[in-house]
Amino acid sequence: MQYEDAVKLLSENGQSHLLKFWDQLDENQRKSLLDQIAGLDFAAIAKMREALAAHTGEKSAKAAGSMAPAEVSVLKGEAADAAERIGSFEVRNGRVAALVVAGGQGSRLGYEGPKGCFPIGPLTRESLFFFHARKILALGREWGACIPFYVMTSTENDAPTRAFFEENAFFGLDKRDVFFFTQSMWPALDAKGRIILDRPDHVFLGPDGHGGTLSALERSGGLSDMVRRGISSVFYFQVDNPLVDIADPAFIGFHKQNLADISIKVCPKRNPDEGLGVVVERDGRTEIVEYTEFTPEQKNERLPNGDLRFKYGSVAIHIFSLDFLQREARAGLPIHVAFKKVPCVDGAGRTVKPVKPNAYKFEKFIFDSLADAKVCSCLAFDRADEFAPVKNAEGDDSPATCQAALVAKWARWLRDCGVNIAEGTDGAPAIKIEIDPAFAHSAASLRKRLASGGVEIDISKDILLQ
Ligand code: UD1
Repeated sequence: MQYEDAVKLLSENGQSHLLKFWDQLDENQRKSLLDQIAGLDFAAIAKMREALAAHTGEKSAKAAGSMAPAEVSVLKGEAADAAERIGSFEVRNGRVAALVVAGGQGSRLGYEGPKGCFPIGPLTRESLFFFHARKILALGREWGACIPFYVMTSTENDAPTRAFFEENAFFGLDKRDVFFFTQSMWPALDAKGRIILDRPDHVFLGPDGHGGTLSALERSGGLSDMVRRGISSVFYFQVDNPLVDIADPAFIGFHKQNLADISIKVCPKRNPDEGLGVVVERDGRTEIVEYTEFTPEQKNERLPNGDLRFKYGSVAIHIFSLDFLQREARAGLPIHVAFKKVPCVDGAGRTVKPVKPNAYKFEKFIFDSLADAKVCSCLAFDRADEFAPVKNAEGDDSPATCQAALVAKWARWLRDCGVNIAEGTDGAPAIKIEIDPAFAHSAASLRKRLASGGVEIDISKDILLQ
């Protein structure tokens, strides 16, 4: 793009201030700023400005709407076996893909680098990506099928993510079955809808939210790749939860039995303030309402039996039917607005890191696609087995709580196989345990593995099975 083109484009879109420091920039800086301007999606920015104008009204309308808790199923006994038979048929026939959203920044965690590279193995310090990829490997081996793995990155973490997979030999997966795709980056706006510069030659950009998965999948050729492979169901999950039961056949079977466009795994919230989206019914449709959009009264409302009325939270484990994803990729999602701290330049061109929110960031949420789903089904699961995310550096949802949940889960599996794991005074296993998913990815596969002999377990010290 030439300078004159940029002047015209910016003036047409009310963003001429982006060239404010032009005279102070050297040749390289000018080129990089022009490249960035050329890459801005002004149609999307116009929508962001509309969303900003409607911001306050939209929020109160949502909170005020009448909604009821969504219907939630529990799978047990024969029903669970039947769902599992259908799901394993799908996996065996290569109709299931796994998709992880790994584009977000680990800012709350204070971790530099892609969040998926975060070391979480209690003994080996293997990464979040390791545990996800090894589960896919194990499940593929178990069923003699390929489960292609789609990894969404952001512009910031795409290269280090790809390099990490290369360095780790794709964790044993065939690299032809791992598909990286990158979500879009969006600018932040001030209260007047002006794009924020964070350096004189640089526009601040942030990922467009996990809702960006849909357009990014289409743009990258990911959707066509799924069609080519004959995929029917896409198992979607977040990178921060190493307990996730990827491509869980019972959940896939449940999704198929319901002929659902989307299926959602839910679990009871730990407390009314836990930061989980809540699955609700409104006007005959299922929605996920973000925790920030609930009023304190709605959050704390109780049933006569003492349960929270809005008890079930979504942990962002979904199955999408591929034809629904294809339709939604074309439909577009609404834009959410958040007032945040965004680095910006002062009048003299110096970068300022604000101490309080100063600008609006915009994101799309994947679960807004629910509005177009004809059938959505919710399945309850046991959180101890499947959900312990790494979100904060300390306290709840931290590496320490996540590792404790992993060790406790593996201890339950071992006890199930008759291995006597001692408890400490706090009730947690007295030793550390780690099981590579490629050694065993479920209680049943561990039982089989140990029954086949040749594995010595010494319960007097930490146990590493790999
Ligand atoms: C999210 C969900 C919440 C759910 C909870 C479960 C939202 C708005 N809320 O909350 O409903 O109960 O997880 O753990 O999503 N990501 C991207 N690109 C982005 C933004 C996020 O790939 O632009 C990925 C992150 O890498 C991460 C996941 O999406 O894997 C969740 O992002 P995060 O910001 O941690 O969401 P939460 O606020 O924890």
